[in-house]
Amino acid sequence: MEPRIWLSLARMGGREQEFIQEAFDTNWVVPLGPNVNAFEKSLRDFLIENRELNIENEDKCVVALSAGTAALHLGLILLDVGAGDEVICQSFTFSASANPIAYVGATPVFVDSEPDTWNMDPELLEEAIRDRLAKTGRLPKAIIPVHLYGMPGKMDEMMTVARKYKIPVLEDAAEALGAEYKGQRCGTFGEFGVLSFNGNKIITTSGGGALVCSCKEHADRALYYATQARDNAPHYQHSCIGYNYRMSNICAGIGRGQMFVLGEHVTRRRAIHDLYVKLLEGVNGLRVMSQPEGDVFNSNYWLTCITVEPEEFGASREEIRLALNANNIESRPLWKPMHMQPVFKDAPYYGNGVSERLFEIGLCLPSGATLTDNDIERVVRVIKHLACKL
Ligand SMILES: Cc1ncc(COP(=O)(O)O)c(C=O)c1O
Repeated sequence: MEPRIWLSLARMGGREQEFIQEAFDTNWVVPLGPNVNAFEKSLRDFLIENRELNIENEDKCVVALSAGTAALHLGLILLDVGAGDEVICQSFTFSASANPIAYVGATPVFVDSEPDTWNMDPELLEEAIRDRLAKTGRLPKAIIPVHLYGMPGKMDEMMTVARKYKIPVLEDAAEALGAEYKGQRCGTFGEFGVLSFNGNKIITTSGGGALVCSCKEHADRALYYATQARDNAPHYQHSCIGYNYRMSNICAGIGRGQMFVLGEHVTRRRAIHDLYVKLLEGVNGLRVMSQPEGDVFNSNYWLTCITVEPEEFGASREEIRLALNANNIESRPLWKPMHMQPVFKDAPYYGNGVSERLFEIGLCLPSGATLTDNDIERVVRVIKHLACKL
């Protein structure tokens, strides 16, 4: 049996252990310290590299946390979302985008995707806002759009709707570090942005995340909640409920090292996507998800995804997945939309069937930066073999 090809593995750049060693040598083995500070600075510099595009981004600050999920949770707290509130969330996403809405006692309102980017449909977003206002007499308290699989959503349209109704945006860019919309980096559009450094992401800290804040006051507040909400007193005094969400200085050492290879990782994932496109060209009934033409959307192609029309192709998405698995290759169905999840069955939903269909016919292919061209060719051989059975 050939070695297993995984969906998305971590890839080390080489300097990670240097920064971890430094932490050990100086005894900064705590959830704060030089690695945390340097990692945050380096992330901020990266996010606003094209700062002339959006002058407001000068004030952005990054707070490193224990997970992207923690960043979403803190973002909601800082937006003052609580029991009885509603929060609009993209339905087509991983559950971590929506779970924090429940943590704060609010109700998620799920909105479907548009077919070009697979992200939140701006027209449905407005329809949902109007309908919630008509039904409840109140506006939703926040909007959580997601840049799924690293593909930027239609930010201009979504931000226009958000501004019209004065609803803050908590942008879930967990999968989209390095992706850009009109040259501006994902994670910098909303009042808050969320990044994830889970093991399978573009860069990793083994596990971790960050909250991108619009200004220093927000970042200070995030830091306060992330470190047990301690008041300014010599003893331990608390006026608010706090959390233990800060990133450890050891994990941040990995992140610091990963920043040296972030560009390389994005380049490699894009090249893997382009190779899949080339190798699968002309296969009937199979489409590799690609960004819309033009220079507006610049995906990081965290994962390359395909959609399969079984009639035309000759096999279903599930048959492809099983054939890949039998050949020791990992693949994964697209995210099951949140409005279809048993846990969210009672949540309001505004849909058009797009994400339900994508869930039925879509598959994520191995896309990690560790993969070679030969690995991608092996994946494609198995897929094409099924098509030949027609
Ligand atoms: C879209 C999305 N949002 C949020 C998260 C949560 O990030 P984390 O695993 O770092 O908590 C993830 C990934 O895991 C994700 O894919």
